[in-house]
Amino acid sequence: MLTANTALLREEDDVLVDIRDYVARQENKGLLRFLTCGSVDDGKSTLIGRLLFDTKLIFEDQLAALENDSRKHGTAGDEIDFALLVDGLEAEREQGITIDVAYRFFSTPRRKFIVADTPGHEQYTRNMATGASTADVAIVLVDARQGILPQTRRHSMIASLLGIRHIVLAVNKIDLVGFDEAVFDRIAAEYRAFAEELGFETIQPIPLSARYGDNVIRSSGKTPWYEGPSLLEHLETVDIEAEAEAKPFRFPVQYVSRPNLDFRGFSGTVASGRIGVGERVSVAKSGKQTRIRRIVTQDGDLEVASEGQAVTLLLEDEVELSRGNMLVTPQARPHVADQFSATLVWFDEKPLLPGRSYILRTETDEVSATVSQLKHRRNINNFAQEAATSLDLNEVGLCNFSLQAPIAFDAFSDNRTTGAFILIDRLTNATVGAGMIQRPLRRAANIHWQALDVTRQSRAELKHQKPAVLWFTGLSGSGKSTIASLLEKKLHAAGRHTYVLDGDNIRHGLNRDLGFTDEDRVENIRRVAETAKLMADAGLIVLVSFISPFRAERRMARELMNEGEFVEVFVDTPFEECARRDPKGLYAKALNGEIQNFTGVDSPYETPERADIHIETTARAPEELVDEVEAWLKERGYC
Ligand code: ADX
Repeated sequence: MLTANTALLREEDDVLVDIRDYVARQENKGLLRFLTCGSVDDGKSTLIGRLLFDTKLIFEDQLAALENDSRKHGTAGDEIDFALLVDGLEAEREQGITIDVAYRFFSTPRRKFIVADTPGHEQYTRNMATGASTADVAIVLVDARQGILPQTRRHSMIASLLGIRHIVLAVNKIDLVGFDEAVFDRIAAEYRAFAEELGFETIQPIPLSARYGDNVIRSSGKTPWYEGPSLLEHLETVDIEAEAEAKPFRFPVQYVSRPNLDFRGFSGTVASGRIGVGERVSVAKSGKQTRIRRIVTQDGDLEVASEGQAVTLLLEDEVELSRGNMLVTPQARPHVADQFSATLVWFDEKPLLPGRSYILRTETDEVSATVSQLKHRRNINNFAQEAATSLDLNEVGLCNFSLQAPIAFDAFSDNRTTGAFILIDRLTNATVGAGMIQRPLRRAANIHWQALDVTRQSRAELKHQKPAVLWFTGLSGSGKSTIASLLEKKLHAAGRHTYVLDGDNIRHGLNRDLGFTDEDRVENIRRVAETAKLMADAGLIVLVSFISPFRAERRMARELMNEGEFVEVFVDTPFEECARRDPKGLYAKALNGEIQNFTGVDSPYETPERADIHIETTARAPEELVDEVEAWLKERGYC
């Protein structure tokens, strides 16, 4: 017989609980966040369903539906198939109602729980990374019949990377091996052996049957040899609070609240540690110190604010502080740097390309960033470090990052909020990676921009011209170099100071170490864009003629130059026409398979969407096209 309660009535079997009372009690209880890793076959959904059910957290309507569904589709005979409960919610997710990770709340008299329910399909890394970033405990599920599998190792390594300190090794389906102690002991020993180097604080193996509930909520009579806690008992008691208390105060500023001239407050959520009225704080980036004047909340002022609390802080002194910065304890300030090393988990179908500019977003800050070096990739099956030039979907690597401006951060091992970031693709706005910062890099710490007396303006004036970077992009053989070279001749004849940077030529010298993989092309364009910038700075009109097939790098080049200095010229010649012209015989070879990664054949060309000048070469002579470009430039005062 099934009994059902509503969510609010968990603890008392009484009907009306004063909601405020209930909420207050909930708030004072400790909170534990956990996630489960394992595939559906390991019994992950069943386990979550069982936990929710046995702690009476299933809503009445869900329960009725579940009974029905279990009879119709279940695989558990007359029993309720708990997997259907969770899988049903997963179907909701597929309809786009929630995001990758669904969070479920439940509570017992001792603790509140948040389960990050990460679907166990192919995209495990992404889902784990998103669900795990705040988890205290990971439940690693194994099927007692199968023991430790490669995915068990993979999940454990990711959990370790994401800073999870406590593991529950749930040896599930113990009923299917006859509640055999020897099987359990063997799996537990094997797990402990390989997990040793992952540095977990606690590992608690538990023999259980999610389907029948053995050792899930209560100890089971069928495993008399097991003396440890049930899963729920363990989750209720595992000690995670001590760690939170000891951390230094971190308060990332979300926004500045200024309702009137007398009130200037900094709003946000305490990321770690605690702070009291009258105590000293520092502004992370400047180091400027002041004291806390008031701690304001919607329900009145507080004396002390601690981790997880959303508050508005008022300071004794006027200090320069805004979103992107943090208030911190002066005794333990975070790092402030524009370079650091970090472990990166890659989520995107398109690989990570070192040198490409991404948006790096931390709890509060957002800056342009590139991976300046991919030091190694971690093999997530055997933990080995491997050489790599890029990261593919679900791969993990150690990278050096270079940021456009300094940010304030902690090492992820010290603080999982202020030590974490995500990477966003500039063109698609998709989250493509998640990072955990290791340490700041001080390589460039003592290098400052040297201000020169002869300015870019005076250099340009001496040449009587407006510097520019004319960026010609198009397929190989499209006519970029022909047009750039003709145009340079005309500009030169008119007394302009010019220079042509041509792909084929630069690849003989500066970029002779680069080939045609995506990674190399990104680096190729990065170097030539930097060179073009220096030349424009010297006052020149620079004509850059590179295939430059990727939008992201052309955009990076544009952003690198001064306002109005960058002119993108799309030399638009269809692939068939380029292949017909084939001035260097490369198309014939590429189409025969003799050359790899050839643009337009087996390497992409991303057509410009908004080129400043668009020239179609098929019907017109180069001279005519050059006249057109020249006219465009004249109109805008470039020549
Ligand atoms: S880019 O893609 O990195 O911008 P870049 O303009 O420097 O390319 O070099 C392109 C030139 O290299 C082509 O014009 C062609 O002569 C030569 N080349 C040799 N192999 C390839 C290839 N696989 N793909 C494209 N161009 C190639």
